[in-house]
Amino acid sequence: MKGVVFQGPYQVTVDAELLMPRVLNPRDAVVRVTRTAICGSDLHPYRGEMPDFAPGTVLGHEFAGVVVDAGADVPFTAGERVFASYLVACGRCPRCARCWHYHCEHASIFGYSTVVGPPVAGGQAEYVCVPFADVVLARSPDDVTDEQVLFAGDVLSTAYAAAVDAEIGAGDVVGVVGAGPVGLLGAMCASALGAAEVIVSDPDPGRRAKAASLGMHAVAPGELRDSLDEVSHGWGARVVLEAVGTDAALASALRSAGPRSTVVAVGAHSAEAMPFPSGLAFTRELTVRFTVGDPIRHRAEALRLVRSGLVDPARIISHRLPLSDARRGYELFDRREAFKVVLTPDDAADSPGMAIRPGR
Ligand SMILES: NC(=O)c1ccc[n+]([C@@H]2O[C@H](COP(=O)([O-])OP(=O)(O)OC[C@H]3O[C@@H](n4cnc5c(N)ncnc54)[C@H](O)[C@@H]3O)[C@@H](O)[C@H]2O)c1
Ligand SMILES: [Zn+2]
Ligand SMILES: [Zn+2]
Repeated sequence: MKGVVFQGPYQVTVDAELLMPRVLNPRDAVVRVTRTAICGSDLHPYRGEMPDFAPGTVLGHEFAGVVVDAGADVPFTAGERVFASYLVACGRCPRCARCWHYHCEHASIFGYSTVVGPPVAGGQAEYVCVPFADVVLARSPDDVTDEQVLFAGDVLSTAYAAAVDAEIGAGDVVGVVGAGPVGLLGAMCASALGAAEVIVSDPDPGRRAKAASLGMHAVAPGELRDSLDEVSHGWGARVVLEAVGTDAALASALRSAGPRSTVVAVGAHSAEAMPFPSGLAFTRELTVRFTVGDPIRHRAEALRLVRSGLVDPARIISHRLPLSDARRGYELFDRREAFKVVLTPDDAADSPGMAIRPGR
């Protein structure tokens, strides 16, 4: 079977000779992938920012498809449409019992080498073996397409988690730092949760144009604070979501936050230390939180926003490519010429009720 393999920084290949995954454990399921996406988090190993990331890793942690085989403890049968959480968790340990799936004793991430837990082959492939499939997979509702459901397994649920952790409510003025997929979905979730005004910032004019094309108010980072002050009649933002993952972006979020507001950092941070403007945080009485997305916890609520028509995540897709063109997809996404790339395995049908191909 075919899959996208990390060979080293800026090198991904589509390997046609990968071993077909099999059910080895009663909680495993094998999924035939119909849609998969490249995530901003895939750019970290791609750009060589993770020196320990193992060459040979089958990449990808956003995927939807159809169950082709399932172990005895998996409540899905062959032919059911499902989507995966990017995050693998057991669902049975004390932390899972508290819905802290990212902190599960057995946590890992599809296609992410050993960055979090043991390696699990990823979803940018024709077939994937899903461990703990009774927890990691969810049914795709009949009224939601594979492209819409795909992001509930990562970027949409992550953006939603940030909006929920920020306790966004009716009438709030919200700033969003970073107009990538997570930022724009965060802005959509903020509006869906009742925010009165949402302003996103990004230094990249192309990204601001993308936000504007979705009807959002987008500004350069240096203009965010004044813009938020203006729309809030001087009160300042009640919430700022930081969806980039750099010190500069977090500093920008803190500077843009209003008095007694909440800043939620949902970009993936990895610094050992950063200069922290504690004087500013104190005098504005800020609450600062870090949030890692948890689709297992949030996917049902996030999908409710989709099914109600309040959020259409498929609107962020800029490129639809065959899986065999994944290399180009990575290049376009890395150069920011693509906003969000969705890959389709060559023989994947599009709609619910598609014929099941037996494993090859
Ligand atoms: N589960 C999770 O917690 C989770 C899931 C998905 C992504 N992420 C992380 O979220 C972050 C964003 O993901 P994405 O897919 O949207 O990535 P992306 O790289 O496509 O988007 C980031 C955007 O931030 C902009 N930016 C850079 N510096 C900025 C600054 N100082 N101020 C404002 N904007 C700035 C960039 O121009 C870009 O448009 C990444 O760090 C990713 O790893 C976390
Ligand atoms: Zn991701
Ligand atoms: Zn667990």
